Amino acid sequence: MKDLATDYPIDTAVKPEVEAFFDPATNTISYVVKDPASNACAVIDSVMDIDYAAGRITYEHADEIIAYIEKNGLKLEWLIETHVHADHLSAAPYIQKKLGGKIGIGEKITVVQETFGKVFNEGTEFQRDGSQFDRLFKDGDSYQIGSMTAFAMHTPGHTPACMVHVIGDAGFTGDTLFMPDGGSARADFPGGDAGVLYDSIQKVLALPDETRLFMCHDYGPNGRDIQWETTVADEKAHNIHVGAGATKEEFVKFRTERDAQLAMPRLIIPSLQVNMRAGDMPPAEEDGKVFLKVPVNTL
Ligand SMILES: [Fe+2]
Repeated sequence: MKDLATDYPIDTAVKPEVEAFFDPATNTISYVVKDPASNACAVIDSVMDIDYAAGRITYEHADEIIAYIEKNGLKLEWLIETHVHADHLSAAPYIQKKLGGKIGIGEKITVVQETFGKVFNEGTEFQRDGSQFDRLFKDGDSYQIGSMTAFAMHTPGHTPACMVHVIGDAGFTGDTLFMPDGGSARADFPGGDAGVLYDSIQKVLALPDETRLFMCHDYGPNGRDIQWETTVADEKAHNIHVGAGATKEEFVKFRTERDAQLAMPRLIIPSLQVNMRAGDMPPAEEDGKVFLKVPVNTL
């Protein structure tokens, strides 16, 4: 694990322009992150629309992002997945086809592919080496968005492949953190671990206090309006699960008890099959028909 102060290329003087796109169907927030010094941008955690009951997919949410990028004359360089989402399907390949850019995810995607390749009884044609993605990030790896240097910080615990992406003074937390009154994400999926999640959250909270943090999800706890932006200082002071000096022991006990009561996310079955393929559907069967599986009594 890296030493935050010396090994990550933090530069809070760089202030990317961040545009948020909220998807009410899955409570996901997708982002377009723009370099203030050029027209380069990245998309973080895009969403494909699915009517699961009807087996129908559409792209209204992704089309909104595409329209925004085109209207502003931006050049899409990266499509970042903070992790393999279990609650929505990625639209990264759809956006990539229209606008270009590289799809990147944490290198531990291979662990997730191994686990869910088994769950879905995928044959040998399903590669478990992450080769469906253009770039696999290791802890501390950096990449350019125009003139900005972004880096990926490995933050396992919710899932093995989780990464927080830090771009100038902006951190994109994925599901490693929620808004202070939302706390944290569950840690009971295969490969999840509450203690590991606590340690990962400490890495994020060790970023400079003024770092803006952008959430991947918000559920508007206690009836408040949806929010997605906070700061490291705010999380440290007020996060209901890890703020104000909550200990690892307290967190693990609370998280484990809470997770035992949670139902599976509504879209976990289609999400994993698609997202472990970088957002592509499983290969078509005869006549070009595409199917998603439902593993019975497995999850
Ligand atoms: Fe997630």
